[in-house]
Amino acid sequence: MAKLQVLPPLDTEARLAYMERVRVWNDGYATEHGRRRAVYVETFGCQQNEADSEKIAGMAQAMGYEVVSAPESADLIMVNTCAIREHAEKRALSIIGQYKHIRAKNSELIIGVCGCMVSQEHRREELKHRYPYVTFTLGTSSLHHFPRVLWDAIEQKRRFITAESEEDMTVTVAEGAPVRRESSYRAWVSVMYGCNNFCSYCIVPYVRGRERSRRMEDIVREVRELVEAGYRDITLLGQNVNSYGKVKGSAGEYDFADLVAELDKIPGDWWLRFMTSHPKDASRKLIDVMANATHVVHQFHLPMQSGNDRVLKAMNRHYDMAKYRDTVAYMREKMPDVVLTSDIIVGFPGESEEEFADTLRALEDIRFDMLYSFIYSPRKGTPAAEWEQVPDATKSERFARLLDVQNRIAAERNAAAVGQTVRVLCDGESKGDAAVYSGRTAGNKIVFFAGEPSMVGRFVDVTVERTEPFALWGRVV
Ligand code: 5AD
Ligand code: SF4
Repeated sequence: MAKLQVLPPLDTEARLAYMERVRVWNDGYATEHGRRRAVYVETFGCQQNEADSEKIAGMAQAMGYEVVSAPESADLIMVNTCAIREHAEKRALSIIGQYKHIRAKNSELIIGVCGCMVSQEHRREELKHRYPYVTFTLGTSSLHHFPRVLWDAIEQKRRFITAESEEDMTVTVAEGAPVRRESSYRAWVSVMYGCNNFCSYCIVPYVRGRERSRRMEDIVREVRELVEAGYRDITLLGQNVNSYGKVKGSAGEYDFADLVAELDKIPGDWWLRFMTSHPKDASRKLIDVMANATHVVHQFHLPMQSGNDRVLKAMNRHYDMAKYRDTVAYMREKMPDVVLTSDIIVGFPGESEEEFADTLRALEDIRFDMLYSFIYSPRKGTPAAEWEQVPDATKSERFARLLDVQNRIAAERNAAAVGQTVRVLCDGESKGDAAVYSGRTAGNKIVFFAGEPSMVGRFVDVTVERTEPFALWGRVV
């Protein structure tokens, strides 16, 4: 197997110089043809990826591209991939496969593949040999190299299927990338990158590298600017936000609770939320800050993964159910209105029927408002992928039982909202019915109501009239 090239370091000045070269090249084209070259960004996966895609689009726009919503007319296609489960990788590869036809009609088309999938060597090899029209790859830790690899592709027709450098995977925190935000009132703000936890099922630490934090002053500035620009709902992002500040990077002597408390001082009518917290270090200090805050919403996403202590240990989660329940109890004591959500993996290797029943029992007594449940998917390179697997039929059967239990609980919890008036940030017309508007509560529950265009991006008060397991329906007061 050929040795893969590793990207050499790139400082901010050099990055800006590459951006300028691409911009001049694109400006020349626009003058000559009366249209700008176009970029299309396709996104798979989590909020971190959505945030990264906004940076990719922002950089491309600053380099003179027009951002378009269909790949057919694009001169540059960027595919931002996910690797959390096999299904996500298959979908990305299938889309990349379809781009072959677009490339066949346009030999100048540049296709970049970024995101978690390309940080795995076997996937890079696959792209290199089976997708020869893919021009370059960029892992999440080397996104700031985008202008350079793009310029090399343009100028030297160079193909870059590269591994990230050790430096980028462990310490680099690139600031200052332009961001093209999809929304004018909801925004993502990354506070840290990477993960050090190595849960035995999870690919993230291998593909996103070590934990490193942004400086508090950079985050405060970004959030302040967003609030001043009219953003109403800001989500702080990190694989494990509770490790913020305690790890490599340029953050100082402060932790996540300090950061949240500092951000909460920013005046205005806005909501602050964050994800994801790891139950092993979701601190009482953070819960106290939330309970006393002005802007921080009472919503907590606390992935439990399993309700059984042996399974949690095999998952390398570093907490047991006693600790988990204790955190939830403290949270509900300090914030009785807290909306609690969680992640569950069904069919982890070795999970017995009795151990799975512990998860169902935990759901029954903790009673989450919403659950993101996943069928375990073996990830190459992680320990659990090598262990004896639960048969697919058993996994599917348990998954269906889990959904039954959770749907009933979610329906019961939502039903309790009937008659209450809730504050909703309006998103606009709902899919499929222009007369029905949708929005989200502070707890991030979806609400449907009869609305009008002037409400979009604003807070409205809605009295809840009926509910479903996944939504509330009501009338604007
Ligand atoms: N299989 C299934 N689900 C997974 N998750 C992470 N890795 C896997 C995997 N290999 C789930 C976890 C995590 C969420 C983002 O994805 O529940 O919290
Ligand atoms: Fe994956 Fe665990 Fe890190 Fe979450 S904390 S990203 S599940 S390794």
